[in-house]
Amino acid sequence: MNTYLLTVFPGLAGLAGEELLARTGLKSTGVKRVRDREVMQVRSEASRPLLDVRLVEDMFVLLGKVSLTGQTADLKALGASPAFRGGLAKAVAERGPQASKSRFRVVVQADDARWRLYRRVDTQAAAEAAIARAHPGWRLDREEAPVEIWLHQVGREALVSLRLTTNAHRQRGGREQERTAALRPTIAAALVYLSVPADDDVFLDPMCGTGTVLLERARAGRYGLLLGGDNDAAAVKAALANFGPRHQPRRIERWDARHLPLEDASVDALATNLPWGRQIGRPEDLPALYRDVLAEVARVLRPGGRAVLLSSEWELLKRLIKAQSRLKQERTISNIDVLGRRADIVVLTRS
Ligand SMILES: C[S@@+](CC[C@H](N)C(=O)[O-])C[C@H]1O[C@@H](n2cnc3c(N)ncnc32)[C@H](O)[C@@H]1O
Repeated sequence: MNTYLLTVFPGLAGLAGEELLARTGLKSTGVKRVRDREVMQVRSEASRPLLDVRLVEDMFVLLGKVSLTGQTADLKALGASPAFRGGLAKAVAERGPQASKSRFRVVVQADDARWRLYRRVDTQAAAEAAIARAHPGWRLDREEAPVEIWLHQVGREALVSLRLTTNAHRQRGGREQERTAALRPTIAAALVYLSVPADDDVFLDPMCGTGTVLLERARAGRYGLLLGGDNDAAAVKAALANFGPRHQPRRIERWDARHLPLEDASVDALATNLPWGRQIGRPEDLPALYRDVLAEVARVLRPGGRAVLLSSEWELLKRLIKAQSRLKQERTISNIDVLGRRADIVVLTRS
C-alpha cells in the first residue's frame, strides 16, 4: 500500500474527492493547501486507477516525511532522510524503463512561514545534495529532468515524493492551438463531471473558445452529439484544429451564443466558461451578454437538463439566475482559484 499525493486547483478538492470515490472507491485521507494547489493524500495499492481522476493536475508517490522545527537543523535532517535512498530508486524503477532517468530535479512547494528560519532554496539544495550522494550516477538538471522529486511542506512536515505525471498529462497531451483565455483541462473536467455525463448526451458549449470543455467531454465517455461555437472566428478555427478528425459526431461553428441556431429543448447537458473581466473587450457589456446567454440556455436545454457555468462574475450571475424562472440553482462550487483569479461554478437544472 502506498500513499499518493494528488494536486488540484484550490477550491476543487471536494469535487475531486467525489470523483475519486466514484471512479476508484477510495477516499482521500486529508487535504492541505500548499501554495497554489490543494494536495490530497490517498492510500492505494496501485497508482494506475488514480490517473483516471480527471480533476487532478499532478500525482506523486510519497517516499517519506520529515518533521520540521523551523531551525536550520531541519536541513541536516532532510539530508539524512531515507526517502532519498532506496525508496526513491525503487519508485523510479517502478515507473518503467526510461533511457535518461538518471537526470533529476527537485521542486520545493512551501508557503512562506515565519517559524522557518531558512529559505526554500536552502531546502532545495539540501535535497539535491542528498540525492546526489545517494545516487552517484544521477545528474542534477534544474531545467527539465525525467525524475522530479517534490517536497510539499504541509504544516510542520516536508512530504518527499516522486512525481508520476508529466505536464503532458495535465495538459492532455497539449492543445494544437492555444489562446490566452483557454481553460485548464482539469477545470474543464470539473465542469464536465458536474454535468453528469450520460451515453447519449447532446452536449453543448455555447462559448467554446479553443474547445477545451468539449474535448474534455469527448474524453469523459460516450455521448450522442457534441455541439460548440464561438462568435470569434479565430476561436472556432482553434477549436477545430484542437479536435482534428477525432471525436465524432460533433458540430463546431461560428455563432452568437445569444441567438443559438438550435431547436428548443434539444440539449441534454451544457457546460461553459463564460467570458469575464476584459475578455470581451467592454466589461459594461457583460450584464446584457450574460442575461441573453442565460435566456438561450433556458430555451435550448430540455426539461431536467443541466447547465454548468464557470465565471468570476458571481454576483451578476446570481442576480440573473434569480430572474430566470426556468433555471433552478442545484449546486455551487465557490472560490476556485484559477491561476490567481477567483471563480465559481454554478450548476443549474432546467425545470
Ligand atoms: C473564457 S472564453 C472560453 C475559453 C474556452 N473555455 C477555452 O478553453 O478556450 C469565453 C469565450 O466566449 C466567447 N464569446 C464572447 N461573446 C460571445 C458570444 N456573444 N457568442 C459566442 N461566443 C462568445 C469569446 O470569444 C471566448 O472565446
